[in-house]
Amino acid sequence: MTVDQLDSIEAVETAMRAHDYICDRSLATVIFLSLKLNKPILFEGEAGVGKTEVAKVLADLLRAKLIRLQCYEGLDVSTALYEWNFPKQMLHIKIAEATEDARREQLEREIFSPDYLIQRPLLEAIQGAEHERVVLLIDEIDRSDEEFEAFLLEILSDFQISIPEIGTLRAVRPPVVILTSNRTRDIHDALKRRCLFHWIDYPTFAKEYEIVRTKVPGLHDDLAKQICQFVESMREQDFFKRPGVAETLDWSRALLYLGRSRLDIPTVNETLGCILKYKEDLDKADTDLFEVILNTIRQS
Ligand SMILES: Nc1ncnc2c1ncn2[C@@H]1O[C@H](COP(=O)(O)OP(=O)(O)O)[C@@H](O)[C@H]1O
Ligand SMILES: [Mg+2]
Repeated sequence: MTVDQLDSIEAVETAMRAHDYICDRSLATVIFLSLKLNKPILFEGEAGVGKTEVAKVLADLLRAKLIRLQCYEGLDVSTALYEWNFPKQMLHIKIAEATEDARREQLEREIFSPDYLIQRPLLEAIQGAEHERVVLLIDEIDRSDEEFEAFLLEILSDFQISIPEIGTLRAVRPPVVILTSNRTRDIHDALKRRCLFHWIDYPTFAKEYEIVRTKVPGLHDDLAKQICQFVESMREQDFFKRPGVAETLDWSRALLYLGRSRLDIPTVNETLGCILKYKEDLDKADTDLFEVILNTIRQS
């Protein structure tokens, strides 16, 4: 599918759903605008609510190459952008010396040419966009440090990179850019200004139920409902890490595999590790809580 074919918000919504991503209208709108205005999107939301998946699905449906930059503390330009291939440069110098062909200026020009450049994700995205459509995913930007964010700002504003020894490289066709943040720290206004912003909340019951039905097709209908209601109630508790959609799907697959047909206390206790991943949370979640939740589910 091409960007031109996604000519309305409805078309985006339908295409995302056809690729198993349950997409509401507000999300479809921001994707539509991003494609038409060539603006990056910054998705914020808790872990496991479907931020990264948007980029994957979008790449899939546009038949684009997905280039992913996973951010972390200490991520620097040489890992994100480019690096000179030092061993290859040294080898070239050695060979040139051995064959007494070591004219200094020429040698320098040679070893600082694109052949000796190692492309990292950002450069790859800018160069790659020349030949094919690229979706650039800058994942979990909140994990990188603020200097890196400032550096990104430059690249995202005009999609160009200058390499002192070579010159300025500019994307002929800007890549589709998706940034995500789990909001462990605030992203600067300057970067936000470059992007369209979309907050992805925990899904409503109806949306999550649809996701489970789509992603775990063999699951019994009643059990799917119970799981979604249970997880929804668990999110109202004061846990350190509330379960996301990823956890709901893990749990659904686990219960399907175990052949369970309904939720009861023993089942919940045995499989609790699918939805709670911290000892403190497991300690807090006791049988009394499960009883209350299961009772409300049964009454509804
Ligand atoms: N709206 C949705 N439609 C389909 N699957 C979804 C949706 N939201 C989340 N998921 C699923 O939930 C899981 C977690 O999503 P992910 O994008 O990794 O979360 P995040 O990046 O927000 O931490 C993935 O398996 C994804 O397929
Ligand atoms: Mg993610």
